[in-house]
Amino acid sequence: MLYVVVDGFFGDTGKGKMISYLALKDDIDIAVRGGVGPNAGHTVVYEGRTYKLRQIPSAFVNQKTLLLIGAGVLVNPEVFLKEVEETKTRGRIFMDYQTGIIEKKHIEEDRTNAYLKGKIGTTGSGSGPAMRDRVMRILRLAKDYPSLKEYLKDVAYEVNKGLDEGKKVLLEGTQGTFLSLYHGTYPYVTSKDVTAASICADVGVGPKRVDEVILVFKAYVTRVGGGPLENEYSPEEVEKLGLVEIATVTGRRRRVAPFNFNYAKRAVMLNSPTQIAVTKIDVLFKEDYGKKEWKKLSREARKFIEKIEDELSVPVTLIGTGPEVNQIIDRRKDYGLL
Ligand code: IMP
Ligand code: MG
Repeated sequence: MLYVVVDGFFGDTGKGKMISYLALKDDIDIAVRGGVGPNAGHTVVYEGRTYKLRQIPSAFVNQKTLLLIGAGVLVNPEVFLKEVEETKTRGRIFMDYQTGIIEKKHIEEDRTNAYLKGKIGTTGSGSGPAMRDRVMRILRLAKDYPSLKEYLKDVAYEVNKGLDEGKKVLLEGTQGTFLSLYHGTYPYVTSKDVTAASICADVGVGPKRVDEVILVFKAYVTRVGGGPLENEYSPEEVEKLGLVEIATVTGRRRRVAPFNFNYAKRAVMLNSPTQIAVTKIDVLFKEDYGKKEWKKLSREARKFIEKIEDELSVPVTLIGTGPEVNQIIDRRKDYGLL
């Protein structure tokens, strides 16, 4: 059984929370991070602790899950090793031999290049310059690093073998559909494609193996850095509406706009989801904080979700009602999907 979880907006929709919930609830055997690299920040709130993960799969909360990082992903060894320590996942976290490695020079360039830093507003994590070096065939790979020796595996083989044995595998996408190098708001995008198909390619699984694509939207839209954002609120409106958010990796304030059906429809087209997850419903409808049953949701919240289903013709199976892993409404049974 193969699930792919991707983001339908500009990143920061709450994939980390959704994935950590699925890891526990569905008892995922193998979780693999695809996407770009440490430019992503996935937040997991579990048992009173908040983890901000840039490299480790969000499924780490399930002690039995094997954690992998695909060959298409970039790793900053310093960030990776720190997170291994913090999450106590040594012994069950591995990356592909051919995972690309970010070096100090890439970070330096990302942070000082006027175009990247000034115009695009990158995260300064070195991801873009490292991808450039990969295309130039000069980037060093994980297998070139003695410090990573114990963390190496043939990830594509592990994943495909696991699927052959009937295991549950989840692929974790990063960033969001409109930050895709190909399908996003170029040039205000990240350095790779990040749609569902690419996440599979990052890991090394073919499209016919995918069973479920879960597309994650937040109840409103945010983006950090430069680039267009339809119907963007002014900073004053953002404060008045209680939608202030601080970016995980960079500490910048996120730009905010209302839920956008044009973006959402295009994201559905680009990712072919079988299910949709909507997070942070409690931020729009405060009285719905922490609710776990569909029928207990406020009328307004239910109407909002039903409108999303009507417009997108895809079931909204997961609804986030708070930051903690278990603050969620799981409607998969109602749809015969569990
Ligand atoms: P880069 O990926 O660091 O090169 O940054 C390129 C653009 O993508 C910038 O606008 C970043 O803010 C944005 N970006 C990259 N990764 C993420 C993410 O994980 N969440 C939100 N925005 C991101
Ligand atoms: Mg994030």
